Amino acid sequence: MSPKIKILATGAGGMLGGDVIKELSEKFEVFPTDLPELDVRNKEAINRWMGKIKPDYVLHMAAITDLDLCEENPELADAVNHIGTLNVAEACEKTGTSIIYISTSGIFSGRKKSPYSENDKPIPQNAYGKTKYLGELAVEKTLPSECRLILRAGWLFGGGKKDIKFVGKIYKLVHRLDKLTAVNDIYGSPNYSVDIGKLIDYLITNKVNGIYHASNEGCVTRFDIAEEIVRLAGVDCRVEPVPATDFPTRAPRPPMEAMTNKKLEKLGYKMRGWKEALAEYIDRLKCELEY
Ligand SMILES: NC(=O)c1ccc[n+]([C@@H]2O[C@H](COP(=O)([O-])OP(=O)(O)OC[C@H]3O[C@@H](n4cnc5c(N)ncnc54)[C@H](OP(=O)(O)O)[C@@H]3O)[C@@H](O)[C@H]2O)c1
Repeated sequence: MSPKIKILATGAGGMLGGDVIKELSEKFEVFPTDLPELDVRNKEAINRWMGKIKPDYVLHMAAITDLDLCEENPELADAVNHIGTLNVAEACEKTGTSIIYISTSGIFSGRKKSPYSENDKPIPQNAYGKTKYLGELAVEKTLPSECRLILRAGWLFGGGKKDIKFVGKIYKLVHRLDKLTAVNDIYGSPNYSVDIGKLIDYLITNKVNGIYHASNEGCVTRFDIAEEIVRLAGVDCRVEPVPATDFPTRAPRPPMEAMTNKKLEKLGYKMRGWKEALAEYIDRLKCELEY
């Protein structure tokens, strides 16, 4: 039997990491790392881990993902999201390792009236988007094409019991409130982290490289997602649509972040629809939270 493919994962303690590591560990040998043991700003630490594990792939998920924090502290966002990614890419280049870099739909301007494909030009509008896009460029400039896979994720949900992001928050709220509001003029594509894990498995197994959009199918607002959560939870809570101006944020939010997965479709790989993925996740939340 050939030895298992080894994957060193950065930022593995985050929301995406939890589900993806579990998914990939079924087939591959995965080494999860996070702060403080592997800070991607620290080249020496990266080189030490690379020497110790000798991975075939680095799954690079580490990032500052709080958009408003990135806007407030662009130096920190650049140090982690851009230079941290460059550091990881350089360590991969030195050792002949491949990188899988998780990027975002937040690199687009949002001015398009329909979902973005891989052919659209990124024009990021906030510090998070800019630094994640600079991360993409760092990967492209540092590594040969056969050693780089860039996956752009949409609005991620997942993590189960530990979920403190939109879906987890709304699921808890709809059990406590009889009314809530959700933004209805910003569009995105929901993205179940477990589905990203399955996709990475497929792309590694089939030795695929390049840039791919990786969201579940759909172009919806947070209002649509909240309404669907209420339906799936079977609770009596009214969701009211409101404009984004009702929730002022420091970082500007692009009004269109939805994506199509044109290149995955060309490969013959289909991400399932967001409603099916969300239904599976809400069933999981019901079990893990016991309500
Ligand atoms: N969440 C989304 O909707 C979304 C959408 C598209 C793409 N993505 C991308 O997907 C990846 C994972 O996102 P996520 O939602 O899992 O975010 P997350 O929960 O914030 O996880 C990111 C992880 O990176 C860690 N980290 C921060 N700075 C680091 C550093 N200097 N060195 C090493 N690790 C560091 C964080 O640790 P601390 O918690 O201690 O800071 C955290 O554990 C990110 O690259 C993100 O840009 C996310």
